[in-house]
Amino acid sequence: MKITAFNGSPRGERGNTHTMVEAFFDGARESGAEAENIPLVKKKIRHCLGCFECWTLTPGKCIIRDDMDELLPKYLASDIVVMATPVYVDNVTGIMKDFMDRLIPIVDPHFEKDEAGEYRHVRRYDKYPNIVVISNSGFPEQSHFQVLHLLFQRIARNMRSKVVAEVYRGGGEILREKSLFLRPFTAGYLKTVGKAGKEGGPDVGANPCVRPPPGRPAGRPLRSWALPGQNRRALGPSREGYVLHRLQGENGS
Ligand SMILES: Cc1cc2nc3c(=O)[nH]c(=O)nc-3n(C[C@H](O)[C@H](O)[C@H](O)COP(=O)(O)O)c2cc1C
Repeated sequence: MKITAFNGSPRGERGNTHTMVEAFFDGARESGAEAENIPLVKKKIRHCLGCFECWTLTPGKCIIRDDMDELLPKYLASDIVVMATPVYVDNVTGIMKDFMDRLIPIVDPHFEKDEAGEYRHVRRYDKYPNIVVISNSGFPEQSHFQVLHLLFQRIARNMRSKVVAEVYRGGGEILREKSLFLRPFTAGYLKTVGKAGKEGGPDVGANPCVRPPPGRPAGRPLRSWALPGQNRRALGPSREGYVLHRLQGENGS
């Protein structure tokens, strides 16, 4: 099982997103997954030119020669890709957006209708990786991930993948806080993310226990972990504090 994380934080390995990805990977590696964490800030990724030559002249291959030459095959060879980004202006970072735009060669330009009658791109390949989303925000509430949640559902639909897990942490700056007072909280939280990686990483999507019972509305959180040692009052509206939920049935594959 190969898991590759693409981290769009400009802070790269110094950031909170990186800390979350590494915690998730600690658990995933325990389950035997081969995990690679790629800070996109270290890569040269130019903007998409909008020329569509990856769909016309050189099907499946972008005309730009930069680090996407190495990243696209890694994306396609993964069983799970972790799309990791902090919330920037209620969205992904610019680095992550450039990376996502440059994924367009992996689908065929032709349209087809999905089960709901909405158009999307035809597959270029038989297999696409499942997606795990990892993010943190400056504001404390989980509501700041609404856009990311919908965005990755939409991307997965069109890019022929499936979002199998989402790990969202409001008030994420706390993760870089070194104070002894906060350490038990952050260590406990990261352990929880690791647990999500261990249980959810390699098996997520394949594990029948994550399927919702019949009749359960698609997209409802199937499982949540409360934060260990969490001071609910201090955390305010994020006190419900679920860090991960698994989704099923919202997107096509
Ligand atoms: C340009 C910019 C825009 C941001 N926009 C938001 C935002 O819309 N909502 C939010 O909750 N936090 C926002 N933040 C805060 C980041 O999400 C927060 O600092 C996060 O912990 C950074 O993660 P990182 O260390 O992995 O880069 C923004 C930060 C920057 C620099």
